[in-house]
Amino acid sequence: MKIIAHRGASGYAPENTRVSILKGLELGCDGFEVDVQLAGSGEVVVFHDFTLERTTSGKGFLRDINLYDLKKLDLGSWFSEEFKGEKIMTLEELLKIVPENKILNIEIKVRHDEMNKIEGKVVEILKRAGRVEGDVIISSFNHRIIKEINKLEPKLKTGLLLTAGFMDIENYIKLNNLKIYSLHFYGEFTGRKMVEKMNEMGIKTYIWTVNSVEEAKILKDFGVTGIITNFPDKFRDLREV
Ligand code: G3P
Ligand code: CA
Repeated sequence: MKIIAHRGASGYAPENTRVSILKGLELGCDGFEVDVQLAGSGEVVVFHDFTLERTTSGKGFLRDINLYDLKKLDLGSWFSEEFKGEKIMTLEELLKIVPENKILNIEIKVRHDEMNKIEGKVVEILKRAGRVEGDVIISSFNHRIIKEINKLEPKLKTGLLLTAGFMDIENYIKLNNLKIYSLHFYGEFTGRKMVEKMNEMGIKTYIWTVNSVEEAKILKDFGVTGIITNFPDKFRDLREV
């Protein structure tokens, strides 16, 4: 089972920052999950919330602030004084610190009321960095984004993010004609039959956010591909490299 550091090793360092990636590398994870969205000036930046208050020294919506001003914000102090001065990263900066032999799950965040052009920008950045055919997976809760990525660059791996436990996933994928590499599913709703069905269909399963070893053992027994966790070091014994 692969161990993916959620927003970097976010149990130990401020999420989606350079230090959370370096911490994950130090702890020996198989890869990273990060969130991306567009800054006010159009760059793709690594950030989870739509607003700045929870994890930065700034205020307001990320989409209203240009990169120059976003770079002035402190993304570390909210987590611990030790990380004071940590700055927002662009996707290009992230790609420089994530080695190519690590899985990189880039989750595209968009608000329901705005379909913007982030997909094209993400694809261009990955092409320029030579990361299209590697272990990069683009995931999104917005399945139109998945379709758009598949259209823009069919070689890129895409991951379907779902929380809904009541859904007939197999039929959802078929009816929507989704060409996906992986299903990224919410831990509590994950069942053995669903995992077996995905394995049968050749679709990988990444389960989030799993922070308990007991839960991880059950998921490993189900046959999931990987778990996405804030504490990658807790699951070393369950890794299959
Ligand atoms: O990719 C899985 C997980 O990160 C989705 O939820 O809110 O942590 O982005 P969230
Ligand atoms: Ca995420």
